Amino acid sequence: MAQQLEYLREQLMESQRLATIGTIAAVIAHEFNNLLTPIVSYSQFALQSAQSEKPDMDLVRKALSKSFQGSSKAGRICSSMLGLARGESMFGPVLVQKLVDETLAVMARDPQKDGIALRVQVQPDLSISGDTVQLEQVLLNLLINARQAMLGRGGSITIKAQRLETSEVRIQVIDTGPGIPEKLLPKIFQPFFTTKATARKGEAKGTGLGLAICKEILEHHKGRIDVESEVGKGTTFSIILPAN
Ligand SMILES: Nc1ncnc2c1ncn2[C@@H]1O[C@H](COP(=O)(O)OP(=O)(O)OP(=O)(O)O)[C@@H](O)[C@H]1O
Ligand SMILES: [Mg+2]
Repeated sequence: MAQQLEYLREQLMESQRLATIGTIAAVIAHEFNNLLTPIVSYSQFALQSAQSEKPDMDLVRKALSKSFQGSSKAGRICSSMLGLARGESMFGPVLVQKLVDETLAVMARDPQKDGIALRVQVQPDLSISGDTVQLEQVLLNLLINARQAMLGRGGSITIKAQRLETSEVRIQVIDTGPGIPEKLLPKIFQPFFTTKATARKGEAKGTGLGLAICKEILEHHKGRIDVESEVGKGTTFSIILPAN
């Protein structure tokens, strides 16, 4: 009996280990996809221009710099996600303004090009304690969701950050998209919950990992993520983190 129990326990540990590896692979693939989309399109621009009669050196330079930024970030995400799986992170002071600027810099397209107004309201000198790479991932996932929610309809995205009286910092991503029906709200942070499984032409497809990754990263930071949404009005995601 004891021997069999021990055997089963080992089997369980092995299958848990494999499940973790599967999750890490899915998460890294998901985050890579976020960054590879702009890298592919920018390098295509650069190639086309370089092969034309009159290469536009400004465009080539911008495209190369964007691709370089994106791929360096992808490399860092890889080690950071493996670290997260082992429960290790590179915690340090993170300037919120820098976090926002860096995240916007790696987005595939300027939201303004899709008729979406972007506003950034960050209190000066706001600083939190955390892992920069992971916090950028959180913000990027929220911004991509907000943009996807408004594609083809226009609207605005506001990034707001302020210190709270509780000596915490709140970073909000506020959109004027279609909102989330109340009955779906408890599900959106579950891994693989998505309403983008069957995308129509021009719409984004999703795997439902974005918000699950955000939640995992914030729990690891001893912070949290909340959502408020009203159908027809828009959605606000709030990240709360300990101030530095
Ligand atoms: N800003 C938003 N406005 C409206 N709905 C949203 C918004 N953010 C998230 N959602 C809803 O929550 C679901 C889960 O979001 P999540 O980011 O986890 O997955 P996804 O965006 O569908 O796919 P993935 O992020 O893996 O590409 C979405 O499918 C969508 O229904
Ligand atoms: Mg998403």
